[in-house]
Amino acid sequence: MGPPQVDLLAPQPTYVAVGKFALGMLKDITKNLVEKDPELLARIKESEPWLFDAVTSARDSKTMPHTGGGQIETLAVEEQAVTTHKQRSNSHLSVEKQLAVWKQSSATLKRYACYGKHLAAIDIGFHRASEKIPRSGRQQVFMSSYKKVAIAGATGNLGPSLVNALLDAGFEVTVLTRVGGSKPPSLPQGVSKVIPIDYTSVSSLTSALQGQDVFVSNIPNHGDQKPLIDAAIAADVKRFLPSEFGMDVMRDVKTAALPAFKDGKKVIQEYLKEKGDKITWTCVVTGLFLDWCLDVGFSVDLKGTTRVIDDGNKKASTTLLSDIGKAVVGVLQHPEETKNRAVYVQSASLSQNDLLEIAKKVKPGFSPKIQQTSTAQFEYDAYAKLKKGEDVDNAMMDFVFESVFGEGFASDWSGETDNALLGIKELSEPELEEVVKRYVP
Ligand SMILES: NC(=O)c1ccc[n+]([C@@H]2O[C@H](COP(=O)([O-])OP(=O)(O)OC[C@H]3O[C@@H](n4cnc5c(N)ncnc54)[C@H](OP(=O)(O)O)[C@@H]3O)[C@@H](O)[C@H]2O)c1
Repeated sequence: MGPPQVDLLAPQPTYVAVGKFALGMLKDITKNLVEKDPELLARIKESEPWLFDAVTSARDSKTMPHTGGGQIETLAVEEQAVTTHKQRSNSHLSVEKQLAVWKQSSATLKRYACYGKHLAAIDIGFHRASEKIPRSGRQQVFMSSYKKVAIAGATGNLGPSLVNALLDAGFEVTVLTRVGGSKPPSLPQGVSKVIPIDYTSVSSLTSALQGQDVFVSNIPNHGDQKPLIDAAIAADVKRFLPSEFGMDVMRDVKTAALPAFKDGKKVIQEYLKEKGDKITWTCVVTGLFLDWCLDVGFSVDLKGTTRVIDDGNKKASTTLLSDIGKAVVGVLQHPEETKNRAVYVQSASLSQNDLLEIAKKVKPGFSPKIQQTSTAQFEYDAYAKLKKGEDVDNAMMDFVFESVFGEGFASDWSGETDNALLGIKELSEPELEEVVKRYVP
């Protein structure tokens, strides 16, 4: 049986339901609907009680209500979203087309309703499913006061996830790339512009940033970001996101004091605080990249030998690359709530033993190789490497590792995340197993 579809009488103001990332706007929008159009709401109540329940309970609740047996992750009703789309693409999206897009993008679209020309929907599991959609089928509904986003370091490990998430959410993305960079950037279709840049030149950065609302820095050399901030200020950019995407350098003094962070991320955080009256900023704190670290064998090395620190039971926040993209989008959709502070997200909080146990569960017979160490020994070895000066990068990675699993470092922000605000959902046990399974040899 298909989803219920009801034509709710005459044309109304334009209401369109959009994805999970709209969650934060939900309360405002539904409040608007209730206040501005009680008559419409009364009609919805009568003919589509499931939609009425969802709209009204979502209005007052941070967590989404349950309907029809599944948790609703995505419901938003936005005035003028269709108009926005029209302006952006010069083609009006009919209700039929919008529905087709939704159906294509979500295997689990359960319910929707039409109001004459207008459409409201409850879409279960939309956001994760959207990763499989060809770009042409993705919806372009714009939901933020920011429109134009420049990103530095758009290629590499994390960059593509940021660019894809920003494009999916309807932002106009401009990519900055190093002049004479070693590889030509392979960027998704839809990137507005690619600008080769000398990151040491504030004037060329300033000219590249003209007209941009947001500058996301994702370059690996954290300490070199001052010219990027200066240029963002000179170009009147409204929000700067420094290259963070890792451990809690903002609050945890022990982490911030490690050689891997004190001259880079920490200095840049202090610089941003100093410049807080000229530009707003947000640090996105993610913990380890869950999937990337499994792939390269950083958290646990499923193809090689895992260095297990202490008893291996220390939990740490970890985030999927795709969820980091969503977190950045969430920040830009909630400028006020995320202004001049660090936001904390996680897809799962996991210890090394948790990961090894999951690997054994999903692949019976798998036997991980382990090398036991302690926080004290690990730190001693890392400082020794640094002192020798031969393998500084490697020593720095060891300090990062220590800040995650070492005793006394605050690396687990379970229960105090910004997940709900930014539209991040923690992985269920089966989802987590699916992720780990991909990396067990
Ligand atoms: N938490 C974790 O588990 C974890 C893991 C990895 C990374 N991270 C963090 O995530 C952020 C991005 O790291 P990543 O691994 O994605 O970076 P990456 O792949 O090493 O570099 C990203 C891009 O930055 C540009 N780039 C490289 N070197 C540069 C330089 N010296 N100056 C300016 N641009 C440069 C390159 O793009 P172009 O060639 O286009 O210029 C490169 O593709 C960093 O803050 C990093 O610390 C965290």
